[in-house]
Amino acid sequence: MEMVDLKSQYLKIKPEIDMAIHRVLSNGAFINGPDVKDFQNNLEKYLGVKHVIPCANGTDALQIAMMGLGLMPGDEVITASFTYVATAEVIALLGLVPVLVEAKEFDFTIDPIEIEKAITPKTRAIVPVHLFGQGADMNAIMEIAQKYNLFVIEDTAQALGAKYQLSDGANVSLGTIGDIGCTSFFPSKNLGCFGDGGALFTNNDKLAAAIRMIANHGQKVRYYHDVIGVNSRLDTLQAAILDVKLKYLNNYAEARIHVADTYDNALKSIEGLITPKRIENGTHVFHQYTLRILNGKRDALRKHLEERGIPSMVYYPLPLHFQKAFENERYPIGSMPISERLSSEVLSLPIHTEMLQETQDFIVENVKSFFRL
Ligand SMILES: Cc1ncc(COP(=O)(O)O)c(C=O)c1O
Repeated sequence: MEMVDLKSQYLKIKPEIDMAIHRVLSNGAFINGPDVKDFQNNLEKYLGVKHVIPCANGTDALQIAMMGLGLMPGDEVITASFTYVATAEVIALLGLVPVLVEAKEFDFTIDPIEIEKAITPKTRAIVPVHLFGQGADMNAIMEIAQKYNLFVIEDTAQALGAKYQLSDGANVSLGTIGDIGCTSFFPSKNLGCFGDGGALFTNNDKLAAAIRMIANHGQKVRYYHDVIGVNSRLDTLQAAILDVKLKYLNNYAEARIHVADTYDNALKSIEGLITPKRIENGTHVFHQYTLRILNGKRDALRKHLEERGIPSMVYYPLPLHFQKAFENERYPIGSMPISERLSSEVLSLPIHTEMLQETQDFIVENVKSFFRL
């Protein structure tokens, strides 16, 4: 058993995928071929956003977003401590100052109250992460951003396809609310390719043009470099694969939600375990199904499952302010008690689009048997 069954997902749409791959192989346009533009247009329609700019991976997308917004060394950028490293890594790489803040216990996403407390005259941007498949508190975050004149970059790597209801009642796609949205097409993501890939989204024409130029060596016209850029492209092959899979993204989300519902029903009454909470004003596309295991029993449950051939993962074993690379006297031990506790409690169970009922029954039975011991 694996956390994610990518092979079965491929086999279900093999003829379409193989045809797309062979089309690219036979026309030979491996870089910036027509499939890149087709996928870009289709993703723009799907998300309801003016511009999608494909790039090489989700980490690059975040970096290019910060370059596109003109953030300068010394500028402070606020993001979550309880997240994947990529978000904070690129802030530091650009000479910006990552300012890590606490999570909400309810859904593990960045706490807007803590964001506001962390704002200084040097703060320029906020990077909320839509962790595990549902939205951070974007209504509150956008209000803060407006009040203090800050940019917002949404890290949508784990929540592509999820919807969010804004304060005015509009239902929009995550990643299209802030100035820029970023995503990853890493194979295990909700929309995953067969290698690395990523994209940026924006409704701002000027920003889109700047981002496109930065992702392409800072050039609009070949060999004329107006700004310092990077080389970050989505391969034509990956775009062709993604364009096929995009048609199934809503079905994939439904399948994941069905698995999550089944886990919820089977596990919610177990004492010592908390099933994932869902926000009311948005969908959860369950990139991860993440339990909290109380009373210091998380690692024992993980071992119990492993001994029975069931994988599980800890996303994430350390909050970023505990990572050596981000050590800073600003964040002593105990400064973010929720993130610190979550790191010792969270356990993600296998979830994917091809989960068989009998496999899930087996997982559930073994989680239950641990708590019966
Ligand atoms: C929240 C988050 N941000 C950024 C990334 C980086 O994406 P990539 O691996 O495509 O660089 C990931 C992917 O693992 C992620 O989960």
